[in-house]
Amino acid sequence: MKKFAALALAGCMAVSLAACGGSASTSTAASESTAPAESTSAAESAAESAAESVTEATQGGKVGVCIYKFDDAFMTTYRNALQEILEGKGYEVTIVDGNNDQAKQNEQINTFITQGVDALIINPVMTSAADQIISTVKGADVPTVLINREPTADQMSAYDKLVYVGCDAAQSGTFQGELILDTENKGDINGDGKITYIMCKGDPENIDAQYRTEYSIKALTDAGKEVECLYEYLDNWDQTTAQQDVANALSQYGDKIEVVFCNNDAMALGALQSIQQAGRTVGKDVYLVGVDALVEAVQNVVDGNMTGTVLNDDVGQATKAAEATKLFVEGKDVEKYYWVDYVKVTKDNASQYLKED
Ligand code: BGC
Repeated sequence: MKKFAALALAGCMAVSLAACGGSASTSTAASESTAPAESTSAAESAAESAAESVTEATQGGKVGVCIYKFDDAFMTTYRNALQEILEGKGYEVTIVDGNNDQAKQNEQINTFITQGVDALIINPVMTSAADQIISTVKGADVPTVLINREPTADQMSAYDKLVYVGCDAAQSGTFQGELILDTENKGDINGDGKITYIMCKGDPENIDAQYRTEYSIKALTDAGKEVECLYEYLDNWDQTTAQQDVANALSQYGDKIEVVFCNNDAMALGALQSIQQAGRTVGKDVYLVGVDALVEAVQNVVDGNMTGTVLNDDVGQATKAAEATKLFVEGKDVEKYYWVDYVKVTKDNASQYLKED
């Protein structure tokens, strides 16, 4: 059900995004999205270091974890939770950094397979590489838990020992829109009858970025609000890129901007820096929302510097991923999908999410 709805909506989304005020990358974003290098010495050395760090199996078994890049605030909290929970279950865990390079991650997967891991947990670098990843793990008959970057239903059905653990990205977008609708003037700060916004977007291949962009605005229009998109910035989940783009947006559009939507908290923190540098006050001159509930963002919600965020439950997802891994290793039945709910974080409930990342 969920998947069919998702696919149908993906079609509509292309239309609605095309209707908005365009999309551009800054140079940082452009350089981040450069195609991964062919098999390089870096990839080889990564493979070697992964190989070296997988030693003798403990009684629980060996689990290899591939993260798309360590330099991502949310995936850092997620991987730390994964490590702790998997080790708590008695597994020997090796976590490797894909450095945002799919070729490198492919090498790491192959190395784990050669090492004879009992299961893999993979956060793909590129959603578009899912076919290749799935065919590799299927060919080696290694049970695999995909996390964070949701493949298509067809891809998921290609291998029986494959599960996906994640969240319903549409829900996080809807919650962002609702956070704005819950403000005093429902996002219409200047009272001109419409909500005028900019959007800082994550990796365009990632369904989380696509659906947060789509559903945050859909929540507003479903509530009968008129909206105006000034610009959509391609910030690839990155704080510095968003900071630069929002600084530019503030000097270009000034007071017109009533809401800054960010597909994640890292970008919202970058946006906040620029909002403050421009002498504007969140809650008075502009609204700002993110997703993830990084501790720094939650603190800013508590302090009134962010309108709100949405908990992307890293511990909940890590727990499900570890449970699915355990079922695989023990040869038991698994579900195909494990879903974890998002939660709206506002000034009223934020203090309970002030855990250390
Ligand atoms: C998170 C982002 C993160 C991305 C990585 C998303 O679910 O909200 O913060 O950068 O996953 O794929």
